[in-house]
Amino acid sequence: MTSFLTSNPTSYQKQHLGPAESWGRFLLRLSSNAMSAFLAAICLLGLSLANAVNFTTVYEWDQFEFTWPSGANSSIEEIKRNFNPKNVEFLYMAVFGERLFLSLDWKYGTPATLVWLPTSGTSTAPPKLDPFPSWNLHERYNCDTIQMAKGLETDTDGRLWVVDDGNAACPGKIWIFDLLNNDKSEHIHRFPDTVVSHASGSRALHDIVLDKTPDDYIAYIRDAASEHIVAYSRKLDKSWSVKTSRKKWKSFALSPSQEARQLYLSKSFSDDFYSVSVGQLKNEGKSAHVEFIGQWKKIPSRMLIDSSNVLYAAFFNANYLAKWNISEPFHEQRFYEAGELGTIEPFTFALDTNGNLWMTELNESTGVKRQKLLKAAIGAKSYLYSAARP
Ligand SMILES: *[C@@H]1O[C@H](CO)[C@@H](O)[C@H](O)[C@H]1NC(C)=O
Ligand SMILES: *[C@@H]1O[C@H](CO)[C@@H](O)[C@H](O)[C@H]1NC(C)=O
Ligand SMILES: *[C@@H]1O[C@H](CO)[C@@H](O)[C@H](O)[C@H]1NC(C)=O
Ligand SMILES: *[C@@H]1O[C@H](CO)[C@@H](O)[C@H](O)[C@H]1NC(C)=O
Repeated sequence: MTSFLTSNPTSYQKQHLGPAESWGRFLLRLSSNAMSAFLAAICLLGLSLANAVNFTTVYEWDQFEFTWPSGANSSIEEIKRNFNPKNVEFLYMAVFGERLFLSLDWKYGTPATLVWLPTSGTSTAPPKLDPFPSWNLHERYNCDTIQMAKGLETDTDGRLWVVDDGNAACPGKIWIFDLLNNDKSEHIHRFPDTVVSHASGSRALHDIVLDKTPDDYIAYIRDAASEHIVAYSRKLDKSWSVKTSRKKWKSFALSPSQEARQLYLSKSFSDDFYSVSVGQLKNEGKSAHVEFIGQWKKIPSRMLIDSSNVLYAAFFNANYLAKWNISEPFHEQRFYEAGELGTIEPFTFALDTNGNLWMTELNESTGVKRQKLLKAAIGAKSYLYSAARP
């Protein structure tokens, strides 16, 4: 408790309201019905006038199925038997060409944590999940295969980057696949214990973003269990970590401007929002200074920036998405609102090269999982493409 108090005074204050604030809350609660009707009207106006983005539903699933390997044998039968279609939950997404890549939360019986889907279907039934790149690269406790895919990113040269958090038997890795060359694995980097702990309880690898430099790609990876950002250079096939002001992070996003690229970070267990210049993350063994930007209304679970400097955010326990133009002072604007979802982390999203924002939406409001894949034309690409110049 002592360390909590000293390291996080703002959330302490929020939880221990003084008498004046308690009265304010009480009065608010009394008029909350009138208040929420009023707020809903404002939100609707705000959404329909300026900010609304029109999503269309691409697929909708009540239950998932995998494309199983052909030719039955006892080990495949066992994998099928242990698979529970109701356990499928999307974590992260990336798009390239005609394919969407999705990482799946690992639960007992999950046969593969990385799958792909076509961006458009020919039948009315939603597509089956296809393991990426093949069944052979998903074998539990075989450390030469993918154990627990988390963050995904596609680069502008047709590669898919995959963060693999491993498990008790296998340390964390980064995989790079060449989508333009039969999905061949081009690099498999095993993080040294000094960069990402080999003790499975002491690491939690999640998001990945790519910093495209004139002659390299540097990946930044979020390890939620440490107060570090992990970096990996493709050219040097080398990783390192940088200390970030004794804070842990819950989600992050990279800005497009090559000259002054910033990594935006949302703090764990807090709605505080920070940024750090990527220049500071290139020095192995150094500390980076993070700067406070502002506070979100809720804790962001996913963030993404497009080529025209708009940051998109999804939040824990929220059925809406918000955006902020990072060229302007921090200001949160809602641009999508779903009905009741009853989900802790309802959304994950990605941008393609045709100006579409792709999003998955999980609805658990009736205790049954319903997943949707939606897309909206927003007219901008991912942060990896600089804005189109006349
Ligand atoms: C969304 O659709 C509505 C109705 O079709 C249209 O009036 C509006 O301009 C669209 N908004 C955007 C941002 O495309
Ligand atoms: C079962 O089939 C899979 C996929 O074809 C193969 O990798 C595996 O070795 C087979 N196992 C046995 C026990 O034959
Ligand atoms: C973001 O803000 C800048 C500065 O005000 C403005 O020039 C630009 O058009 C805005 N971008 C978008 C996508 O609204
Ligand atoms: C979630 O699912 C329930 C039950 O099927 C449905 O009534 C509700 O409209 C759904 N919510 C959204 C936002 O689609």
